[in-house]
Amino acid sequence: NTKLIALNNGVKIPAVGFGTWPLIGEACTNAVATAIEKGYRLIDTAARYENEEAVGKGIKQSKVNRSELFITSKLRGAAHGYQSTLDAFYQTLEKLQLDYLDLYLIHWPLPQKNLYIETWKAFITLYNKGLIKAIGVSNFKIAHLCRIIDETNVIPAVNQIQLSPCLPQTETRQWLNRYNITCQDWSPLGRGSGLLNTPILLKLAAKHGKTTAQIVLRWHLQLGNSVIPKSSNPLRMLENLNIFDFSLDKEDMLLISTLDKHIAPTQDPDTYSEE
Ligand code: A2P
Repeated sequence: NTKLIALNNGVKIPAVGFGTWPLIGEACTNAVATAIEKGYRLIDTAARYENEEAVGKGIKQSKVNRSELFITSKLRGAAHGYQSTLDAFYQTLEKLQLDYLDLYLIHWPLPQKNLYIETWKAFITLYNKGLIKAIGVSNFKIAHLCRIIDETNVIPAVNQIQLSPCLPQTETRQWLNRYNITCQDWSPLGRGSGLLNTPILLKLAAKHGKTTAQIVLRWHLQLGNSVIPKSSNPLRMLENLNIFDFSLDKEDMLLISTLDKHIAPTQDPDTYSEE
């Protein structure tokens, strides 16, 4: 019940995945197990979320074969650097109780640390060892992407960025398309922005017999992106997966493009004051 997208190295990623921030502890374990039971195959976590152990337990609880799951984690800012990245990666595997990751991302570029090239080189080492099926980045701007590609000749498979109809990131998205880097969208429902109650989305929801969240998630898919909504509610988990039986037409897509609020993406909270 979920479409797959081919990454630039041939690995296939589910178009819709389950985001786990800010779930922690038992609530996180239960949410992950429920999400897998409801049909999610991609689970997105990060060292920084402090929930990798809980996610690992949820995966175990689900009893779905590891080979059928797509597990993403991210390297935290404090671990930037070649050797520290290798160490952090093994810790992540241990916490998740896994022996490989499907996707590992540099969580934030942290340009003021100026270590993301070294970090990326460690990602390449781990990829070449077969410990990660695909490597990518998160919250990278075009300039950061250009630098890692120039210096290593290895193009990331994914850039996971904050993207929703209020924050469509059009320039970055088009650039990623040109390099065949899959754009994966975090906070896809525009968390906290009131997006889901806007009249345009309510109108489209009525037109298609869907919820506004489903309209928004479908919009992400039709941009060609992968998307990772989070919900603790089993009904909404199902709702967010149930977006493959309708499509938005050109006019619908155009209407949604008017919801752009021309706001800047969230900055890494750790470095906000330094930039
Ligand atoms: P909840 O966990 O109670 O379902 P985003 O993925 O953009 O960060 O949004 C996550 C937020 O949106 C969560 O607070 C989640 O709340 C809520 N949410 C997730 N799915 C839906 C949905 N289908 N309809 C309404 N709210 C949703």
